[in-house]
Amino acid sequence: MAYEFITVHTEADKVGVITLNRPKQLNALNAGLMIELGQALKAFDADHAIGCMVITGSEKAFAAGADIGAMATYTFADVYKDDYITRDWETIRSIRKPVIAAVSGFALGGGCELAMMCDFIIAADNAKFGQPEIKLGVIPGAGGTQRLPRAVGKAKAMDLALTGRMMSATEAEQAGLVSRIVPLDKLMEETLGAALMICDYSQIAVMAAKESVNRAFESGLADGVMFERRLFHALFATADQKEGMDAFVNKRKAVFKHQ
Ligand code: CAA
Repeated sequence: MAYEFITVHTEADKVGVITLNRPKQLNALNAGLMIELGQALKAFDADHAIGCMVITGSEKAFAAGADIGAMATYTFADVYKDDYITRDWETIRSIRKPVIAAVSGFALGGGCELAMMCDFIIAADNAKFGQPEIKLGVIPGAGGTQRLPRAVGKAKAMDLALTGRMMSATEAEQAGLVSRIVPLDKLMEETLGAALMICDYSQIAVMAAKESVNRAFESGLADGVMFERRLFHALFATADQKEGMDAFVNKRKAVFKHQ
């Protein structure tokens, strides 16, 4: 499928890589890009050969936010009636296989929010995160006020949302927003290494792990643990559980068939 605002390829026939591709606009997220991103994610999610996805940008920008030029003339009636953001931006929430954000450069506003909608973020050492919407007379509108405090706590989330300042990769890692920092020239190698590792595990267990961790943000502890316990029990019905444990017991490498 030909896309205008993204490029798409696979690595080792297992990892679906989506590159945001509006470099001149620092990958500002317009409706066309978000629609294409949703289409590409859904296509990879439906492809049985794909075990994991990566979203990345350019060295200078993962994404510098929603497209301000496009938004500048929107009225309340426009955004309310069109259900701006909700309509095109949230497809990623329905994706069941893991999605890793490989972030270099700016991840601001909607760019930071998109990275936070991924399952985890691997950051290059030049990454900069922030929610600068306050400078534009608005607030984060794609989940930033909700996902950022869950990731970094109230104090830092308030600081970022109210001052609009940027946070370095180091500060983001210390705060818990990113899972690891790597040198810029190793970003894709490291990210693809993680993605390929995930692809080789049981896809059913991987999907269950994602679903269960996500449940931690949607439920109280007792309900969340019960959800986890039932999924854990259910995995004993898979051939992959037999394979994984037999391989350990017999000191050999497990070969999962995703069944
Ligand atoms: N929307 C549209 N265009 C953008 C953009 C954005 N969010 N961010 C950058 N661009 C464009 C610039 O207009 C510029 O275009 P021209 O060359 O045609 O002038 C080009 O990208 C390069 O940008 P700069 O010249 O500004 O590059 P810089 O290196 O000097 O600064 C920056 C980089 C600090 C990221 C700066 O571009 C900037 O502050 N961008 C806006 C960041 C922002 O406010 N993001 C939040 C948007 S609102 C939002 O996302 C709402 C939401 O929650 C959903």
